[in-house]
Amino acid sequence: MHYDIDYANIFHFHFEGKKECILFPQSETRYLYKVPHSIIAHESIDFSNPDYGKWPALKKAEGFKSTLEHGDMLFMPEGYWHYMKYLTPGFSMSLRALARNPFNFGKAAYNIFIMRYFDVMMRRLKGQKWIDSKNERAILRTNRLVST
Ligand SMILES: [Fe+2]
Repeated sequence: MHYDIDYANIFHFHFEGKKECILFPQSETRYLYKVPHSIIAHESIDFSNPDYGKWPALKKAEGFKSTLEHGDMLFMPEGYWHYMKYLTPGFSMSLRALARNPFNFGKAAYNIFIMRYFDVMMRRLKGQKWIDSKNERAILRTNRLVST
């Protein structure tokens, strides 16, 4: 589960087979166990079949779930979180357009020119400890929302 680093608007066209798509707007970010200094949710979560006992905040997230079939097209507005899984063989193509919301455009520039370089630098300095600490913070921060 991630959102695109550049906050693009995306037309996602699907061909052959079936593909599961799960989407969340940015308003739900706080419930998605977002890893700090990244654009991904905690990688241990199976969004197809979430374990709400282990990831309780996910129950509060309001999103969309759909299955694309041959000829379907999905529009993902800028910044939408997405998780996609091919259920049967097929392929998809995306048409992308830059973020139009100036606030999102600014966040895209921050992600591309600052956040990712900071993250690369920290990985070089601290290695696996940095990655582990980010994953722990994702859980602590998010679970705080459901424990109070
Ligand atoms: Fe993406």
